[in-house]
Amino acid sequence: MSTEILITEFVERVREQARSLEPEEIRRALASELRNVARAYARNPADWSAWANGVDVPGDAYEALVSGADRRDAGQFQTPASAADLMAAWLLQEPTELLLDPGVGAGRLLFRAVQRPESSPKRLLGLDVDPVSLEMARVNLLLRGITNCGLRQTNFLVGDLHERPDALICNPPYSRHHAIPATEKEAIHTGFEERLGLRLSRLAGLHVLFLVRALEIIEYGGRLAFITPAEWLDANYGRAVKRFVLDHAQVEALVIWEHDHLFFDGALTTAAITLLRAGAPSSGPTRVVRLPRRQLAVEEVIAAIAGENTRLRVDDVELSAEAKWSRPARRRTPRGTPLKDLARVRRGIATGCNRFFVVSEASRRKNRLNLSHVRPCIATPRLILGDELAVHALECLPDDVPRWVLDCRDPNAERVGPLGRYLRWGKETFGAHTGYLASRRDPWYALERREASPILFTYMNRQHPRFIRNRAGAIPLNTFLIVEPHDGVDADKLWWALNSAHVMRQLAGARRNYGGGLWKLEPRELGNLKVRL
Ligand SMILES: C[S@@+](CC[C@H](N)C(=O)[O-])C[C@H]1O[C@@H](n2cnc3c(N)ncnc32)[C@H](O)[C@@H]1O
Repeated sequence: MSTEILITEFVERVREQARSLEPEEIRRALASELRNVARAYARNPADWSAWANGVDVPGDAYEALVSGADRRDAGQFQTPASAADLMAAWLLQEPTELLLDPGVGAGRLLFRAVQRPESSPKRLLGLDVDPVSLEMARVNLLLRGITNCGLRQTNFLVGDLHERPDALICNPPYSRHHAIPATEKEAIHTGFEERLGLRLSRLAGLHVLFLVRALEIIEYGGRLAFITPAEWLDANYGRAVKRFVLDHAQVEALVIWEHDHLFFDGALTTAAITLLRAGAPSSGPTRVVRLPRRQLAVEEVIAAIAGENTRLRVDDVELSAEAKWSRPARRRTPRGTPLKDLARVRRGIATGCNRFFVVSEASRRKNRLNLSHVRPCIATPRLILGDELAVHALECLPDDVPRWVLDCRDPNAERVGPLGRYLRWGKETFGAHTGYLASRRDPWYALERREASPILFTYMNRQHPRFIRNRAGAIPLNTFLIVEPHDGVDADKLWWALNSAHVMRQLAGARRNYGGGLWKLEPRELGNLKVRL
């Protein structure tokens, strides 16, 4: 039977059992159904082989039954199997006495570790604060015949462990600090301060606290594999933790997905696995392996971490608490002149209401707007093929594509003619005069002016950034940054230099990553890039 059918059937059974759709009632029904599964398995184990076959029916069913929003505060998001396998494969390269998952959930990280071809840990231990999660883990382990695994209901951050694991695998709850009850938060932080002399921001999320606690309890020389969204590797709030990590472990490798995955919270975000060896402070470089979109064999990534594979993008990076860990360290300061010394960098114009201020040729004709009241504009990089906007390019656009922006500063314009009618219509239909920008303009329709905008930069990108030579004299909207060469700087030469590999490499290091593969660069950051003319 297919995995989907197994999960759907089980989800239906739980829903039938539940007396309401309240999350707590659904969880109660799930726990009760799981106990039924355990009893049925004891009577006839052979019936349950499909459940034991690598599929995590309880865990997947839980995510189908309880919405992401209802799991968020508890940080209950499970690790995709491919990432779980990679973490286990790295940890289990060395013989392991005790493998701990301190937030075990449905037990996926542990049972997949046991199923790996590498040497199996002698003992396993799973902790969780949530009894329903432990029920799921219990069934998953039972069906797979895993008997050397302990499960405990305890709070990893405050409870005593009484033993030291030599390997730790973890997808920590990625909950914000608001989700931690005040007294518990105080106990965790005071504990760290007293035992470790470590003072962390009270705003630190659970994932950060889990990492510190993990380094505290693991055996000297033990190995840790943590999967988290990659953002924390770059965040300023992570600084104190990064310092602590570097002082107490060697960061052996970071594995970063180049593209966003639906890993956490059903949200597109970049995931990272941090691989650490506890004990002595970090002394050598860290290997940063970047994974492409396509699925890779675990062995291929493990080989890259070991330095044996050259097909993947691998950098050896000296980490510091201040650096952004998700980016390759630039080993040499790039040479050249800062762009800000060669050109002014600023944003394209913001109208505050593009639906009104930016019109297509068809709309211009329909509203009888005179050519002297509009100027050609370029609204989005999507309209530009390649990296040059030719003189007549805008004229070739279809009639219904917005390509004119209103250009009028006459304070009496509202009173007369077709333009006056259009302005009055904009007020009535869109309230175009009331927005934040419009209310600060005088008259409200007098947009900023940008005379020459010779080079445009697509500052929000998903893939390749482009510097576009604007030969059409089009006014860029604020989807672009504008590079205006200073007197004496040749626009064509600058444009060539900006599109060089030298600048593109710097862009990769300077950019800010957002969800959905989107990245951005602000004017100041662009101005700091070094250009070789
Ligand atoms: C992101 S899930 C990971 C589940 C599972 N290990 C996996 O990777 O698929 C985190 C788990 O940690 C548990 N958890 C949250 N806070 C905890 C705490 N303070 N101590 C122990 N477990 C906790 C949650 O209930 C949840 O099951």
